[in-house]
Formats: sequence, C-alpha cells, structure tokens
Amino acid sequence: MGKKIFSGVQPTGNLHLGNYLGAIKNFVNLNNDNENECIFCVVDLHAITVKQDPKELKKNIRETVATFVASGIDPKKSIIFNQSAVAAHAEGAWILSCVARMGWLNRMTQFKEKAGKDKEKASVGLYSYPVLMAADILLYDASHVPVGDDQKQHLELCRDIAQKFNNDFEIENFLQVPEPLIQKEFSRIMSLKDGSKKMSKSELSDLSRINLTDTKDQIVNKIKKAKTDPLPMPKTVKELDERLEAKNLIGIYASLTNSNLEKSVETFAGKNFSEFKEKLSEVLVGKIEPISLEIKKLLDNQSYLDNILLEGAEKANLISSKKIKKIKEIVGF
Ligand code: TYM
Repeated sequence: MGKKIFSGVQPTGNLHLGNYLGAIKNFVNLNNDNENECIFCVVDLHAITVKQDPKELKKNIRETVATFVASGIDPKKSIIFNQSAVAAHAEGAWILSCVARMGWLNRMTQFKEKAGKDKEKASVGLYSYPVLMAADILLYDASHVPVGDDQKQHLELCRDIAQKFNNDFEIENFLQVPEPLIQKEFSRIMSLKDGSKKMSKSELSDLSRINLTDTKDQIVNKIKKAKTDPLPMPKTVKELDERLEAKNLIGIYASLTNSNLEKSVETFAGKNFSEFKEKLSEVLVGKIEPISLEIKKLLDNQSYLDNILLEGAEKANLISSKKIKKIKEIVGF
C-alpha cells in the first residue's frame, strides 16, 4: 500500500549536502513511487522563528522550490507549497499548543542548541516550533515523515501530541500517529571542518558545507580543504569511531554511490586521503553540479516557481481545511 508522505524544509538559504542526503534524496525516491501521495512544504512560518530579512526570505522560498524540482521532485506528482499560504497550519498549531505540555517542550534539545546561552532572548516561536511542525504533519494524516536524524525528537513529540489529543477528546485514531522515515546510515551529515558538528546552514564558515548551489570549482576546493587526520585511510569500520572526519567523508561517498560504509572503507583502505578526496570530489560534482545548474536555471523563471506554489497551496488547502474544520468541531468551537 502507498504511503502518505509529509515533510518540510526551512527556506533559510544555503540548502546543503546534509539536507540533500538526509532528506531531499529520500523525498525524490518517495515521489518516484507512484503508490505514494507526497506533500513537501516550504516551512516559511518556521523560518521566522529567527529574524529574517523579508526580501531574502522571499528569494529563499523560491530557491527552496527550485531545489526540490532540480533534485527530481515532480510538482505534477507531489504537492509543493509554502506553509504561510495555508491558514490551517497556524490555526492547528495554536490548538495543538494547548494540548502539548511545557514539560515535553522543555526537553527539546534543538531549542536548547539554537537558543544558546541566552534563552530569555529567544522568540516564543522558536520554543513552540515543534508544535507547529506537529500541526503540519497531523493536518494531512501523514503516515510517514522522511527527515534527517536531527528531527527525530520533534517527530516523537508530534506522536505524543497526536495521542494526547485523541485521548483527551476520546476520539480514537482521529489524528494519525505518523512514523518517522530516518535512514539507518548517513542520516546526519557532519561539518567538513569539524566531524563532531552537524553540517548546518547557519555555520559561519562556508567551507564547512557543500551548498546545493555550489559550482564545480567550489565543491572541489571545499573537499580539498576538508579536515582529515594525518593517518592513511582507515582499514576497518571500527576505526571510524575514533576518526570522525574520515567517517563523515566516507559516509558521504557511500551515500552518493548508493553503497555502504563497509564497502567504501574497503575500497580505500590504507590509501592516502588525497587519492580518496579526488574520487569523492568526482562523485560529488557528478551529483551536485547538475542540481546546482538546474537551480540557477529555474530561478530565472520566477513565474514557473510561483505557479508551483500557487497550485500546491490550493491542493494543500483543500485537504487541510477539512481536517481543521473537524478539529474545531471536536474541540467545541
Ligand atoms: P530543516 O530545514 O532544518 O532541514 C530540512 C531537512 O534536512 C535534514 N537535515 C540534515 N540531514 C542530515 N544531515 C544534516 N547535517 C542535516 N541538516 C538538516 C533535516 O533533518 C530535515 O529533514 N523542522 C524541520 C522542518 C519541518 C518539518 C515539518 C519536517 C517543519 N515542519 C514537518 C518534517 C515534517 C527543519 O527545521 O528542517
């Protein structure tokens, strides 16, 4: 039986290899299976939980759509829309925020990381952000949610919220409890400069990540400068536990070649990093350069991108307005 897929990506610029290997690549595979119904959301309401320049935000929303399409998501098969265009998301988030408990949100590690030392100055939206994410998913009765490893805790919260709503209002299985789809390997791509840190759009150094809009020369240069260690390439997977940078680079190679860590370690065992890096650059350029060129081409056709969003929002609205209507009835409005 087909799956009902929902996932979201924030339009905050610098979509990178982590977003691609952790999430978007999976979106494309799910989109290609005709049995599935897929919805991919550009989560602009989530983006404003930290300050955004309005002009940049608009540009980044289009760039995220262009990235979806350039990566291989077919807007005729999957619904692509931006969250703020469909009112049910904000409405649902409010109602669910009265179901979610403070204690649950207090445990969210991503808030702690993002808010940093000065929690008092973080926006209320940044704190309640996982509740909006739950609304996104639950409004569409999604059965499966493909995400990278960093979103696992938010999905568990979403499941808790769905169950509590169903229990509180004594309405069994009304909100569908979704399953996370997190790849076993390569679901957390790390920074090219520090193997203990997640690859991230907000990291200051551009050398820490491969952006999906990077040119061939940029990709080659970033891999050349990527941090390694002085030893030759590892001979066993076990060795990787202590060699985080090597683990990340080999993981990226394995993921891009649809292989696994074991085989990839075997291929390069004992060789020099420079030889491996050359091969890694080659597969990276082979995969990312066509996407990057296509993104740039699509960005020249704004009306095409805007139209995808417009049509997507109409379809998303049709589905979610029915669900929010029922939610309101259940609550007693
Ligand atoms: P966001 O925009 O931070 O990231 C988008 C997707 O990319 C994955 N990802 C990574 N995967 C592997 N390695 C990395 N270094 C890496 N960095 C990012 C993320 O796990 C994510 O899948 N809250 C979400 C967006 C969201 C959402 C939703 C997702 C809003 N509503 C509903 C699913 C369902 C976020 O901020 O993702």
